[in-house]
Amino acid sequence: MAVTRTFSIIKPDATRRNLTGAVTKMLEDAGLRVVASKRIHMTREQAEGFYAVHKERSFFGELVDFMISGPVVVQVLEGEDAVKRNRDVMGATNPADADEGTIRKTYAESIEANSVHGSDSDENAKTEIEFFFAEDEIVG
Ligand code: CMP
Repeated sequence: MAVTRTFSIIKPDATRRNLTGAVTKMLEDAGLRVVASKRIHMTREQAEGFYAVHKERSFFGELVDFMISGPVVVQVLEGEDAVKRNRDVMGATNPADADEGTIRKTYAESIEANSVHGSDSDENAKTEIEFFFAEDEIVG
């Protein structure tokens, strides 16, 4: 299995509850390595740009408001089959549907305040990584 990269966000509900370390430990325990990380407070323009694919969805405005409601931690994760590995440990988008032992089952408050984001494909991972990181900020 090839070593690949994915993009992760630890969302405002998790940073507010001081869960950055706890969430990162679950990612690391799942076999992912944090090769870039920074804590930022997204601007509205950044959040709207990042989630542009969802702009026609009914929840878009609330999603953007939530994502700029506090700091987030954006990360690049590396590991074997990183996109799938990360999505497996994150669990389902809605914590009510997430499996036991996943990050969202353990920590998420709701479908919106669901603690983490993770890329859904290698192609989107590349786009999302490039949205927040320069290549020289990623140190494997
Ligand atoms: P994320 O993986 O960050 O991608 C889009 C986000 O929209 C998703 O996680 C959810 O947190 C959020 N969201 C809010 N409401 C909904 C909804 N009804 N269906 C899907 N995603 C939602």
